[in-house]
Amino acid sequence: MTPDAGPRDAIRDGVLDTQLAYYRARAPEYDEWFHRHGRYDRGADQTAAWHAELEVVRSWLVALDLDGLEVLELAPGTGLWTRELLDAGASVTAVDAAPEMLEALRRRCEGPRLTTVLADLFTWAPTRRFDAVVACFFMSHVPDERFAAFLELVAGALGAGGRCFLLDGVREEASTARDHVLGSDRAQTMMRRLDDGRTYEIVKVFRGDAELFTACARAGLDVDVRRTATYFQVADGRRE
Ligand SMILES: C[S@@+](CC[C@H](N)C(=O)[O-])C[C@H]1O[C@@H](n2cnc3c(N)ncnc32)[C@H](O)[C@@H]1O
Repeated sequence: MTPDAGPRDAIRDGVLDTQLAYYRARAPEYDEWFHRHGRYDRGADQTAAWHAELEVVRSWLVALDLDGLEVLELAPGTGLWTRELLDAGASVTAVDAAPEMLEALRRRCEGPRLTTVLADLFTWAPTRRFDAVVACFFMSHVPDERFAAFLELVAGALGAGGRCFLLDGVREEASTARDHVLGSDRAQTMMRRLDDGRTYEIVKVFRGDAELFTACARAGLDVDVRRTATYFQVADGRRE
């Protein structure tokens, strides 16, 4: 809930399916966003700031000291963060609903410490507990109607004291492509475009730090919520 605007508008039926279709189709061009190429290039200064802030986020992730731990990564996409987790010495179970994303992930990351699972996170439940749960750039694609259940999934995958690291972007026009427009504070969706011009309605909810903190606390997750200068928001902490 946004503090001054009241509840956000409900999403229409079918948006979660459209969102998944978008990510399946986007898999081959997904990394352009991360590397600030093509439609995501907002100029040299913004690119430098983006990468500098990613380094800050990486330093927060490294500070979790995941060496030797069992990590559940939710919605890993092409494995940009899976690579970091494996390099940090973790064993990773990576769960995503897009086979095209998991194929790209397996091209980037391989080895005995990686397990991939093709599953829909809006219905999947873990059958065991992990030392840590990591979800990067997925929270904002979870609508309000499902957000408590998503955080309960995170908490339920952890034993007492288990760590969580939830990363996402903040509301910043320069984060997205030049031909994307962010919705109003009330809207939970926006239109996304692929390089070939196809458009999809997806969920995009930017949650304030206090809102995120409170939602995590309700799920039994004791987190600190912090931001980098312009682009990123991280909630990291432990299951109580
Ligand atoms: C913005 S990407 C994030 C990818 C990666 N974590 C990163 O930071 O680059 C969102 C990911 O969510 C996945 N996804 C979308 N809907 C999903 C669902 N219902 N269940 C599981 N994964 C889903 C997409 O396939 C995509 O890989």
